[in-house]
Amino acid sequence: MPLTTALLSPDDPGLARAAAILSDGGLVAFPTETVYGLGADARNDHAVARIFDAKDRPRFNPLIVHVASIEIARRYVDWPVEADILARAFWPGPLTLVLPLKPGGGLSPLVTADLPTLAIRVPAHPVAQRLLTCFGGPVAAPSANPSGRISPTTAAHVQAGLSGRIEAIVDGGACDVGVESTIIGLSDGPTLLRPGGLPMEAVEAALHRPVTRHSQDDPLTAPGQMLSHYAPGASVRLNATDKRPGEMLLGFGPVECDLNLSASGDLTEAAANLFRHLHALDERGAGTIAVSAIPETGLGRAINDRLRRAAAPRP
Ligand code: TXA
Ligand code: MG
Repeated sequence: MPLTTALLSPDDPGLARAAAILSDGGLVAFPTETVYGLGADARNDHAVARIFDAKDRPRFNPLIVHVASIEIARRYVDWPVEADILARAFWPGPLTLVLPLKPGGGLSPLVTADLPTLAIRVPAHPVAQRLLTCFGGPVAAPSANPSGRISPTTAAHVQAGLSGRIEAIVDGGACDVGVESTIIGLSDGPTLLRPGGLPMEAVEAALHRPVTRHSQDDPLTAPGQMLSHYAPGASVRLNATDKRPGEMLLGFGPVECDLNLSASGDLTEAAANLFRHLHALDERGAGTIAVSAIPETGLGRAINDRLRRAAAPRP
């Protein structure tokens, strides 16, 4: 039986209702500054299991836990000095830290897929912050899209992908950053597990040392980083300099195109538009989305990472 998915306002009554649904083991999608997350009580096995079912997500792919503050995060993970430097510099914000899981924290083992580490972050979006405070516990939340599809940056994207499978969506408008958080592992020296909304140059500057890039061929470091991921319905052609028959062109910079990530060549604006424009071109019925080249610096790394996955052969 499909559920009725309530659309909640980000005001006190809406957030109280969302928190009550989480407490009852239900699923609530909510805005973060990166993308919308699909939240469940991270201590409740049944609720966490429902996230995997709603998204059709493989169980070996662990989830990020969202908490309201550094102090709360430290209950769940060991806290090396690099974690403290990065958390103080960038939390709340688009950074996830992967750290050794502390035993006895009470999280469902499904959250970590039985890994000895936990991915954790403090989101900056005021609606996410208020929901976490109102709920008063850790919230496990992957991006609120069916597994393998483009991440949602509006409540309407969440509705299109998950309506009937989750109890509620808190509508907080469009996400500012537009790509998922940067994931840094700190087990063997700082390692970039996923480029994202915080440029790795900023991480390196805060740590005063280089960050190792994780190799795409190492499935163990970031289990969810499968090559074909973030896929729109259309196929995707990268580094396009022209538009071929049957294609729609997603431009960057001063080019003639169907939609432009940023006509002025601004990478922050391009990241914020990336998933929204891919969703929109899909809705217009593009067979193939051709995309202009994007520079591989700052947020361009996260944009190119998502585009390479969108263009990869599908299973
Ligand atoms: O911005 C974001 O990070 C969003 C918002 C909702 O917070 N969340 C998000 O979650 O992108 P998800 O599940 O779509 O991506 C989380 C990634 C996956 O690739 C997963 O494999 C990886 O984090 N991950 C989770 N726990 C991990 C761990 N212990 N070690 C390594 N990678 C981990
Ligand atoms: Mg995701």
